[in-house]
Amino acid sequence: MSQEANRTLVVTGASGQLGRRVVELLLEKPAGQVVAVTRTPDKLKDLGQRGAIVRSGDFNDPASLDNAFAGADRLLLISTDAIGPGGGRLKQHLNAVEAAVRAGVKQVVYTSMPNPDPDSPIFFAPDHRGTEEALAKSPLSWTVHRNNWYTDTMIALGTLPRAVASGQLVAAAGDGGAAYVTREDCARAAAASLASSNTTSRTLNITGPAVVSYAQLAKIASEITGRTVTYVPVEPEAMKAALISQGIPELFAGLIVGSDVAKAKGKMGPATSDYFELTGRQPTSVAAYLATQRTALVGAGAKAAG
Ligand SMILES: NC(=O)c1ccc[n+]([C@@H]2O[C@H](COP(=O)([O-])OP(=O)(O)OC[C@H]3O[C@@H](n4cnc5c(N)ncnc54)[C@H](OP(=O)(O)O)[C@@H]3O)[C@@H](O)[C@H]2O)c1
Repeated sequence: MSQEANRTLVVTGASGQLGRRVVELLLEKPAGQVVAVTRTPDKLKDLGQRGAIVRSGDFNDPASLDNAFAGADRLLLISTDAIGPGGGRLKQHLNAVEAAVRAGVKQVVYTSMPNPDPDSPIFFAPDHRGTEEALAKSPLSWTVHRNNWYTDTMIALGTLPRAVASGQLVAAAGDGGAAYVTREDCARAAAASLASSNTTSRTLNITGPAVVSYAQLAKIASEITGRTVTYVPVEPEAMKAALISQGIPELFAGLIVGSDVAKAKGKMGPATSDYFELTGRQPTSVAAYLATQRTALVGAGAKAAG
């Protein structure tokens, strides 16, 4: 048996969309014993049947993490979705980092965000900055994956379907853009880092192949759907007020606008070759991903148009 096959690779947040996919990819490799940690083990019975060990673990309950991380050689720490006031996300992540130290983990892979600097306009940047700093101060070796904005969110949050329906893509990013990356590619990158034997501490920027502006997004959406979509740049405050008036909760309106301001300031780029160097694959472009989402893109508009 190779040394790799004897390793224990632990994935936290394994019932989330990213975590589940990483576990599936690791089971395909195979890269070692895969341990899937989640607050809801019942959701992962299928992964247990396919060879993963499923353990219960909750970052809000540090004691649960001692059993969850026991024997881990390498650990993927997936940032949680507990964003916003009272969410306690940074504390959750610090609990996980401390538990990794107690468990004697050799390498932690952490999913962060692009440029989580003190002047980031994205309200949850301090969670990621604080976690990166805790890893840097710890005795652990680490790989930080600064995952760019998921391409998927433009469909999931309804941004592009709404734009196709109305013909207007309204945003507050000026001429700026993001090096959007698909969740699938983030999962492939995380699985590759976890399965590797690299124990260097380093920060990688996991991006798609290019920075894409809203004007370019409008053009791509037009080409895929055959409907004219025009980019309408607006000021951040006007954008936030419009989103809230459409019923978007203030927290998410702030997040959408904050990410637009980050794009305008060039903080959601540049595109890098880190994904290719990790995986040997080219990342999925925005146009290629959206071409697979035509039904979702035209859904709302198709009804409106009869
Ligand atoms: N780059 C982007 O555009 C983007 C977009 C969305 C999210 N994200 C970030 O990337 C992460 C993964 O994305 P996703 O698409 O998989 O999100 P998701 O499906 O919403 O998953 C949420 C994740 O948070 C974990 N979690 C929540 N509370 C936890 C706790 N107390 N202890 C341990 N884990 C906890 C969940 O684990 P279990 O339920 O298995 O316990 C799950 O893995 C998100 O949590 C978020 O931080 C990034």
